[in-house]
Amino acid sequence: MATALIILAAGQGKRMNSDLPKVLHELGGAPLFAHALSAGSALAPDRIVLVAGNGAEAVSAAATMLDDEIEVVLQEDRLGTGHAVDQARAALAGFDGDAIVLYGDTPFITPETLEAMIAARRGGADVVILGFEAADPKRYGRLVMDGQELRRIVEYNDASDEERAITLCNSGVVAADCATLFDLISGLSNENAAGEYYLTDIVEVAREKGLRAEAVTCPEAETLGINSREELAAAEAQLQAIKRAEAFENGVTLVAPDTVFFAHDTFIGRDAVIEPNVVFGPDVTIESGARIKAFSHLEGCHVSAGAVVGPFARLRPGAELAEKAKVGNFVEIKNAQIAESAKVNHLSYIGDATVGEAANIGAGTITCNYDGVFKHRTEIGPRAFIGSDTMLVAPVRVGADAMTATGTVVTRDIEDGAMGVGRARMEVKPGFAVKLFEKLRARKAAKKGH
Ligand code: UD1
Ligand code: CA
Repeated sequence: MATALIILAAGQGKRMNSDLPKVLHELGGAPLFAHALSAGSALAPDRIVLVAGNGAEAVSAAATMLDDEIEVVLQEDRLGTGHAVDQARAALAGFDGDAIVLYGDTPFITPETLEAMIAARRGGADVVILGFEAADPKRYGRLVMDGQELRRIVEYNDASDEERAITLCNSGVVAADCATLFDLISGLSNENAAGEYYLTDIVEVAREKGLRAEAVTCPEAETLGINSREELAAAEAQLQAIKRAEAFENGVTLVAPDTVFFAHDTFIGRDAVIEPNVVFGPDVTIESGARIKAFSHLEGCHVSAGAVVGPFARLRPGAELAEKAKVGNFVEIKNAQIAESAKVNHLSYIGDATVGEAANIGAGTITCNYDGVFKHRTEIGPRAFIGSDTMLVAPVRVGADAMTATGTVVTRDIEDGAMGVGRARMEVKPGFAVKLFEKLRARKAAKKGH
């Protein structure tokens, strides 16, 4: 059965107190809406429609960055969740299959839960609502059940005391046949406490048409929605807890788990060791048995089996460490391939470069990759030995088994097996230091005498 996702992301997020649209605030290094998108994407949807409103341009740009198949539709006036879904009507006209409605600000719904909803659809429910048992039902919509059947959803503001006593609440996630969904939405009215078109009213409309609505439930933690900075921080904590548990499950050692921060997509292989205070930005893969030492920051990089990173290392996007490569303290690597067993151990910047197998990069080596306008590449051959404090002025190539003398400014290519020496000749002047100090001290004394 074909599937379409409809992601609601038009809300203003007033309580965030922010210039940034709520769904663009980051959770686990990805915009908030990307999490619902990723859960829904696990169902391999044929269509994805995002309903944007507040900050629609920025939301649209972010959506396209994540997946250029996403269709963004605009909800000009926020007249309620039913009205929001209605904005996808034209985009999905003639779509033959199920539609799943997700909220952009509700990031923890799992693919398994969505699959359970699809299963309920196959089992004969025309409309499936995702509910949860709320520890504190607050102002959530309440699910009024009639045995297995869902009779209606009543919003808190419209509910009687008896209905408010119900603890089975609405998460907001809906699954229904797409054409049926829009048909039901056509039957909504806004005659309620909020004067809004409630999506939740489709349940009653469905029953009036002789259709069957059911509820599927999930753990309350999945339904956590974000409305404030405080809730965003709580969600981040929840995401980190999930990622840490996942790492343990996969056979990863986290020496001090509470101090390691993952991105939503961090992948770490079995028997890798992550020392304290390590931060992972998006798009990082760490292979089996690698070790990430304390206080390192990694994003957009790939660390192969047995490689060692840190302490205090920074791997930026495009850093690729082959097996057993070593990147040590106060080293930054960006858009560079470090081949097997190569070492960059101390205080270096390696950017836009390739470093050959078993090459050794001395302390304080810098690839001067940027001329202020263009970036240039540096190539360092296998087994090359780069002396400490070498400046490699790119574009430049150091051959296999070649060498640079300490302090060399490399401004032209060094062929295989050759040595580059390019530093000012040093002189030693006997007795000069003593004489100089005497002169300076005398000058200081004379000044004081005045
Ligand atoms: C909604 C549900 C409620 C449920 C709760 C779960 C309705 C009427 N109520 O209430 O039963 O318990 O979610 O959190 O559906 N949105 C738009 N455009 C709009 C209105 C909303 O895009 O015009 C988006 C919001 O950005 C948000 C989501 O829809 O992501 C839910 O809207 P919100 O106003 O938070 O609904 P609640 O009142 O919390
Ligand atoms: Ca809400």
